[in-house]
Amino acid sequence: MMVSDFIRNRLSRFLTHQNEIILHNSIPSYNILTEKFSAVDELGIYLHVPFCNRICPYCPYNKEVYSEESCHQYVHAVIKEIDTYAPMLRDKPVTSFYIGGGTPTTMLGKGIDTIINHIYRHFNMNCHVHMESHPNHLTAENLNLIEAMGVKYLSIGVEALQDRHLKLIERPYTVAEVKKNVERAVGRNFDCINIDYIFDLPGQTESEIEQAAHEIVNMGVHQAATYPFFRFPYTRLGRKFRGSRNVIGTMLRRRRFLKILEGIFYDSGYDRSSVWAFTKKGVDKYCSVTVPLYLGFGASGGTYLRDLFYINTFNVNEYIRAIHEGKSPIALSIGLSEEMQMAGWLYWRLYETKFRKSDFQKRFNKSFDEKYGKQMKILSRLGYLKNGDDQIGLSDKGAFWIHAFEDYFSIDFINKLWGTSKYDAWPEKVVL
Ligand SMILES: C[S@@+](CC[C@H](N)C(=O)[O-])C[C@H]1O[C@@H](n2cnc3c(N)ncnc32)[C@H](O)[C@@H]1O
Ligand code: SF4
Repeated sequence: MMVSDFIRNRLSRFLTHQNEIILHNSIPSYNILTEKFSAVDELGIYLHVPFCNRICPYCPYNKEVYSEESCHQYVHAVIKEIDTYAPMLRDKPVTSFYIGGGTPTTMLGKGIDTIINHIYRHFNMNCHVHMESHPNHLTAENLNLIEAMGVKYLSIGVEALQDRHLKLIERPYTVAEVKKNVERAVGRNFDCINIDYIFDLPGQTESEIEQAAHEIVNMGVHQAATYPFFRFPYTRLGRKFRGSRNVIGTMLRRRRFLKILEGIFYDSGYDRSSVWAFTKKGVDKYCSVTVPLYLGFGASGGTYLRDLFYINTFNVNEYIRAIHEGKSPIALSIGLSEEMQMAGWLYWRLYETKFRKSDFQKRFNKSFDEKYGKQMKILSRLGYLKNGDDQIGLSDKGAFWIHAFEDYFSIDFINKLWGTSKYDAWPEKVVL
């Protein structure tokens, strides 16, 4: 076992009190699901669109090249999946709705509006739509379609703002083109435009990061999500650049880059709104899921209901086939002990950079200070967080360590779960 695997195992055991985290191919019954949904006060909905016009060589997400035929069948399958859940949720309030991918905008005018309308007709929707988009799709005509679907929060995968980096990661546009499209979207009436920006690309310099951050501010976007370049071993660029990995050197370099980004965004009137994101003061942030419990539709859609997590098959054809044959598209599930639920809760709240201890008490009927007080005190003394009477806030130093933790720990989880599911539509089990 490598040292890094050993540390990961120890950390995982410490947080979850489990020797191994194993997802199995067992499918929860209709009655169990009905019972679990009835115990939930509110939840979020996630819809996965697994299509892209072309595949980027660094991208870990579940996607395939768009085809009219697959898309057409996918719309029918998702509608059927929605119909299965409608009686289970009844009028449970849905307080966040996120459409991700792949590239949701490949389905503009190809049935995505039908799915959204179906969701709004069958669930008690108390929220606007948050949706991801590809910059090349943001023509004036498509922006009309996006606005007409009720999307108020739009994210655009800009990725880089120097032509040499766009070329290296094989994005199909230039800086001049992407800026024009982002500015067109900013000129519309969205509540929040987020752009994704990847930093620490191979060979990137501090002055390039500085220049890109100023460009982002000047484009007038409400939010920037700044991700370090993750090297997933099952992607072509991930493999190519993984070999040259020096863990300490990478961490120190990323820390410098992140400090540049923090300085420019703070000086320009943005606050940190999650570990990755900076949002203009006074703007409601764009984010994937704003409530801790959620139901996911589509291939690779995941659902989390307190002590149960499950995920649909990643394979689009198999997802369509299962639903067509009246079978469940769920591929893997795991029951979660209370210790795992609490560790997961804490991780995601830290990720959002602030939370209330009283929310922990409400969720688990346990005192936060009794459970995690000692650890929080130590982290507070070290300057990683501010430990108030009720509110806990992550400092910039703390956010950096969550970044590092993600790269070292969660990416490994994702790599195992997504990497296995990508090659095997119905795995027997996945050990994390
Ligand atoms: C689903 S894509 C965004 C929408 C659209 N498909 C696009 O590419 O424009 C989600 C985002 O994940 C980020 N991402 C993908 N692969 C990444 C990687 N290897 N490292 C860091 N960020 C990555 C990118 O910023 C990307 O915009
Ligand atoms: S980065 Fe976006 S466009 Fe590229 S493959 Fe991933 S999801 Fe598709």
